[in-house]
Amino acid sequence: MGQRLVSPHIFQNGIKQLLSDQIISHWEIRYLFVIGALIKRLAQGDTIMTIAIIGTGNMAKGLAGVFSKAGYPVTFGSRDAAKASEAARELGGNVSGADIASAAGNADVVVLAVPFDAAGDAIAAAGELEGKIVIDITNPLTADYSSLTIGHSTSAAEEIQKLAPKAKVVKAFNTIFASVLQAGGKIGDKPATVFIAGDQQAVNDAVEAIAAKSGFVPVQVGGLSVARYLEPVAGLNIVLGYMRGFGTDIAPTWQTVI
Ligand SMILES: NC(=O)c1ccc[n+]([C@@H]2O[C@H](COP(=O)([O-])OP(=O)(O)OC[C@H]3O[C@@H](n4cnc5c(N)ncnc54)[C@H](OP(=O)(O)O)[C@@H]3O)[C@@H](O)[C@H]2O)c1
Repeated sequence: MGQRLVSPHIFQNGIKQLLSDQIISHWEIRYLFVIGALIKRLAQGDTIMTIAIIGTGNMAKGLAGVFSKAGYPVTFGSRDAAKASEAARELGGNVSGADIASAAGNADVVVLAVPFDAAGDAIAAAGELEGKIVIDITNPLTADYSSLTIGHSTSAAEEIQKLAPKAKVVKAFNTIFASVLQAGGKIGDKPATVFIAGDQQAVNDAVEAIAAKSGFVPVQVGGLSVARYLEPVAGLNIVLGYMRGFGTDIAPTWQTVI
């Protein structure tokens, strides 16, 4: 056990004295505590990432809900800024709306919650995305969900990295149905698994921290090319959910003996 440098009683008595002598107000004390907590979090490396979500559809709203409940400031970026503001109003809290360029420009993390075929448009609208973490949740599926449109020797994630070469692209959240996100990221009372694939360890760790803080079970699976396996897993999830009668309250996970 580490030794305390200042006894809590001495500290509390000191604050009481400052208050009774009217040297400091209750509001100023609260303000100092908030600043102190912030400094402590920053010192611990727990930086508060700001998140932009491009799109205002099912996944965008589901992710915005879980991220904002975990304390992340979230901004929807839409082709129609008024639509983004409306989506933000629906969720309330620390969620706002903007056009795609300003949402992405002001964020540390940009989530592409658009169809894979629209990823090029979304990236062009978002700007260079230089140095930003880009979370790709897309699944490159045919319109009838019977197969992938690309795969084997590439993946949506790798193609998106080519479209945004200055960004740090990570595949994540693509195996979770929007309905599970809207249920707080849980299947019943069990947290859903988020598989994370990316080429930079520090970036994978940052996405893992966001997923864990948002209540998921994160599992790092390796480099970005592992998305070649994650995207078909999402296809299987759709087959089970929609075609084999399991419904959408499901999510893939992996069993281990531990
Ligand atoms: N639904 C699921 O359960 C699920 C699960 C896992 C992964 N995914 C993947 O997540 C992505 C989003 O799925 P979703 O179900 O949320 O789709 P969705 O409800 O149809 O929403 C897609 C959003 O993309 C934006 N968009 C469309 N075309 C665009 C363009 N050309 N440029 C910029 N933005 C564009 C639209 O936003 P604005 O109109 O506001 O611009 C729209 O709200 C897809 O890639 C899907 O494969 C979905």
